[in-house]
Amino acid sequence: MTSGGGKSRSVYRCSSCGAEFAKWAGKCEQCEEWNTLVEELVSASTPAKAKARARHTADATLGAKLPVTVLRDVRGTRESRLSTKLDELDFVLGGGIVPGSMVLIGGEPGIGKSTLLLQIAAQLESSGVSALYVSGEESPLQIRLRADRLGDEAQNVSVLAETDLALILAAAAARRPALLIIDSIQTVYTADLEGAPGNVGQVRECAARLMRYAKSSGTAVIVIGHVTKGGGIAGPKTLEHIVDTVLYFEGENGGAGSHLDHRVLRATKNRFGSVDEIGVFNMTEHGLMPVANPSELFVGDRLTRASGSALTVVLEGTRPMLVELQALASKAGFGTPQRVTAGFDQRRLALLLAVLERRAKLQLSNLDVFVNVAGGLRLAEPAGDLALAVALASSVYDRVLPRDVVCFGEIGLGGEVRSVSQTERRLTEAASLGMRTAYVSERSVPRQSPSSLRTIGVRSLADCFQQIFP
Ligand code: TYD
Ligand code: MG
Repeated sequence: MTSGGGKSRSVYRCSSCGAEFAKWAGKCEQCEEWNTLVEELVSASTPAKAKARARHTADATLGAKLPVTVLRDVRGTRESRLSTKLDELDFVLGGGIVPGSMVLIGGEPGIGKSTLLLQIAAQLESSGVSALYVSGEESPLQIRLRADRLGDEAQNVSVLAETDLALILAAAAARRPALLIIDSIQTVYTADLEGAPGNVGQVRECAARLMRYAKSSGTAVIVIGHVTKGGGIAGPKTLEHIVDTVLYFEGENGGAGSHLDHRVLRATKNRFGSVDEIGVFNMTEHGLMPVANPSELFVGDRLTRASGSALTVVLEGTRPMLVELQALASKAGFGTPQRVTAGFDQRRLALLLAVLERRAKLQLSNLDVFVNVAGGLRLAEPAGDLALAVALASSVYDRVLPRDVVCFGEIGLGGEVRSVSQTERRLTEAASLGMRTAYVSERSVPRQSPSSLRTIGVRSLADCFQQIFP
């Protein structure tokens, strides 16, 4: 294929992982996703350009002019981070937005990305820091309508409805905002590349140019990337390696009036802070509100008289959180018993069920088992094993656990309870939320636990059940 300007060739790029292939295939060899390869045109570098590049490599006089410096001589102000005034967000970012950095916020459509960024812009604006909100998705009127819900501060945000990257960068150069927001990267395009906005080539090139702009101007750039299913549009994964910080916005939308309106913001990459930190927000009538004490949110609705519920403390990044695990074992109907989980790994559950059956003599093979992590949280750590086992036993025996008991520990195939990291931190969190008894692995009982908390070490599942359900 040829284009107006010069010669271009086409390549096929995976819209999921960004890998490039010469030929189309149904499955990406890199990430093994199906139907993700899309054609992309790249303008081949003209022979003149290639020649110029070859000349540069050999040109010492040009090389001598390049600004190589010894680190000691590098001058500049130490990063002073921009606070978004949304504590949970500042926390996830590692203390605020770093000037000149580029942050990617990914998430499914409708999760609240635009809302969050409009709030950030409003907060910065109200503390005298200029922000420019560029939207390729909504008209200024639509943004205004959203701003009306967020309160007065949001009225002062400057918006630009534009999708041509050259014009966006021109506007930014003229206004020199401290923060440039792009909503979303999938709608912007550069005329230098062929292909529709949203294709992998466009998305990556635009992101790379925005990154260059951020570094050269000191303006922080936040781009929104929709998580997409299937080919056509490039997802945020294709950008992760380009940007400084990657945050994912997740959540469970329980619908109107539901308690499940909270959103979890998670850092999966951060050049200026630690990863795996999470921030928790509630989506309200007036935008997103930081939830300062997530534990209360996740266990707040707990029924204290129902069997099949146990509390555990999980670590999300450096933050311990009290979480309720629910299990329901009921007589299976016809056919293979069901195993349904929400928020807990299905394979991990299968493993635990087998261990419970063999090592703790819990009859489960003819029962349907349903597992739920309350509050829509996703449990990634094995530390929740013990609490899930206890919740299952509680359901099978129909015995209610005292409400101030918490358990955590990993369970091995032998039915042994293994220690998990940062026991003391978890115990402190449990104690601060009024827990009185903690069951943990025998080996991880600390010499000094919080005085209000009795810490009981257990060796195995059987040992633990005997103590809890004598
Ligand atoms: P939005 O920020 O548009 O999502 P995204 O940009 O990730 O696609 O969020 C849209 C949802 O948030 C929509 O269902 C309406 C809801 N919402 C509230 O509940 N309260 C609010 O104050 C606002 C502005 C939106
Ligand atoms: Mg949006």
